Amino acid sequence: MNRHNIFGLVLVIVVIVGSLIGLGFQTNVLSTNPDESGPGKRSSQFDEQAPAPFNTSAYSIDDATSPWVVVNKLRPLPDGYQPADLRAPNVSLRLGASSSEMRLRDEAATALEAMFAAAKEDGINLMIASAFRSQATQASLYNRYVSEDGQAAADTYSARPGHSEHQTGWALDVEPATRECEVEVCFGDLKEGQWVARRAHEFGFIIRYEQGNDALTGYTYEPWHIRYVGKGLAAELKATNQTMEQFFGLPAPVSYGAL
Ligand code: DAL
Ligand code: ZN
Repeated sequence: MNRHNIFGLVLVIVVIVGSLIGLGFQTNVLSTNPDESGPGKRSSQFDEQAPAPFNTSAYSIDDATSPWVVVNKLRPLPDGYQPADLRAPNVSLRLGASSSEMRLRDEAATALEAMFAAAKEDGINLMIASAFRSQATQASLYNRYVSEDGQAAADTYSARPGHSEHQTGWALDVEPATRECEVEVCFGDLKEGQWVARRAHEFGFIIRYEQGNDALTGYTYEPWHIRYVGKGLAAELKATNQTMEQFFGLPAPVSYGAL
């Protein structure tokens, strides 16, 4: 074999060995990424699983102590009901921390602390206007509205004693720290009200009496009244744009009926 042939042979060997190394390398890459091996194999078995359906009976809607309890004009609380684990959340309060009206159930208080902290990060300063109200406190408030406005009008915006979510310890009225639009419809137009409407569900709260829902809730629009139901149900209600009554297939509580 002359020098020319030897050179040719070496060249052929180099090309063959190089190709084999290349193929081996490619084979290695493919075998460690089975999901990228071709059409029809791009998603894993986990991607293809449908999300678990929401468990609509995870909590009671009848038990006054449940975070899902539905309280309205047709569904009173047990007479004199008072929740056990009330505390004042560590947030700005309209009244002193010793006032029972500044308290919430412990779980709702913790959720509210997280919500107000997140709002503060966005430059939104919120305050509790009114939270837990005993049946007696609700009675004096309702009676005052009846004497000022008449019963028919009062019933459109104030719950009769025993029928208020405030008595559960799961609900509160929120306002700006400045007290602008305090418990007034204009709260919904403020940056504070807009923040609450946009973000409250992330912390487990819903706006319970939405605009235009009078015939569904029995009350006029209250952008300030938020109700704790937990993150799962709050997200579900927000996504489906339903009231608690619609979601749970309950009648619209437009009046007290025969009461
Ligand atoms: N303002 C609401 C309806 C209440 O009195 O509970
Ligand atoms: Zn309220």
